[in-house]
Amino acid sequence: GKGQYRHFMQKEIFEQPAVIGDTLHSFLNPATLSVQLPNLPFDLSKVSRFTFIACGTAFYAGMVAKYWFEQVARQPVEIDIASEFRYREAPMPDDGVSVYISQSGETIDTLAALKYAQSQDQKILSVVNVPESAIARSSDAVMPTQAGPEIGVASTKAFTTQLTVLACLAIATARARGAIDVARERELSAALTEVPARIAEVLNHDEAIREISHDISEARDVLYLGRGTLYPIAMEGALKLKEISYIHAEGYAAGEMKHGPIALIDEAVPIIACAPSGPLFEKTASNLQEVHARGGKIVLLSDKEGLARAGELAVHTVELPKIDPFVAPILYSIPIQLLAYHTAVLKGTDVDQPRNLAKSVTVE
Ligand code: F6R
Repeated sequence: GKGQYRHFMQKEIFEQPAVIGDTLHSFLNPATLSVQLPNLPFDLSKVSRFTFIACGTAFYAGMVAKYWFEQVARQPVEIDIASEFRYREAPMPDDGVSVYISQSGETIDTLAALKYAQSQDQKILSVVNVPESAIARSSDAVMPTQAGPEIGVASTKAFTTQLTVLACLAIATARARGAIDVARERELSAALTEVPARIAEVLNHDEAIREISHDISEARDVLYLGRGTLYPIAMEGALKLKEISYIHAEGYAAGEMKHGPIALIDEAVPIIACAPSGPLFEKTASNLQEVHARGGKIVLLSDKEGLARAGELAVHTVELPKIDPFVAPILYSIPIQLLAYHTAVLKGTDVDQPRNLAKSVTVE
């Protein structure tokens, strides 16, 4: 049941410290701060290319992972949504591994894309939440998420546990390819180990985020901005908001604003900026300056340092703990989930069962 919570989605958001902890437990040794994967039917040091395929929220997890694999492991990665990939007739490389990310493990487009990759002699690895699912059964190897059953149609804990598994796989790949040394592996693993506690801190901002949702609930359109691994989180924020509150929202790479979407900015369009301090912060801050100059109402999600630098541009801020930029996309998923949740509750929509949507998309 829902226990003390009003909706399954809310319960599942609050379960994230525990289920991310459970997921880390299967792939990371906290004593040695090293990742330990199951035996894989391919050599991680010799994968020519990973191809990540998924739909919806799971696709955004793959997008974050692409940044991780490229930056941390220097590993070439391609990514596509399953409904495009399955019909693209894409040539696939020798020694390629194709990774299928799916909460249900039953999404028909994702399964069909898997079959295509199989026909192209790719090794198949899946990241699923349901170990007995069709996608899991069709894979050469499975790295399960330990999210437990996800009832709310809008994916929350499945997403952050997918990110957790993919982060462990990225570290293992980096190690296998000699892209990181033991000290860096320990640092990245330590950052991951800290995530459940940091998420618990962010969940304490629930009430402040609920306050912000009053302004969001009155908007017709909302823009989400981010750079690097926070760009997919901006898109995930927009998807979460539109699917449960029915408010139109778009996620953009902050650097794309001046190539079109900035034309939309006026006092009526809230801008949610996902911007931890770090190498990309100054770039995002100057994009926010441009938005601010055009009357845009900014909600800035950042840490103490970021808020000190750009907080005065915002009408609302949420201060997140300072963490290693590697794990920032996991942490910043939490405020965007809460914002969508509270906005939907204010709008009076059916949060757990939004119109026109099904939990498991087994038809095309
Ligand atoms: C959004 C959402 C969907 C799913 C998508 C893939 O909140 O839940 O976008 O992520 O339908 O589903 P799975 O992961 O079951 O393949």
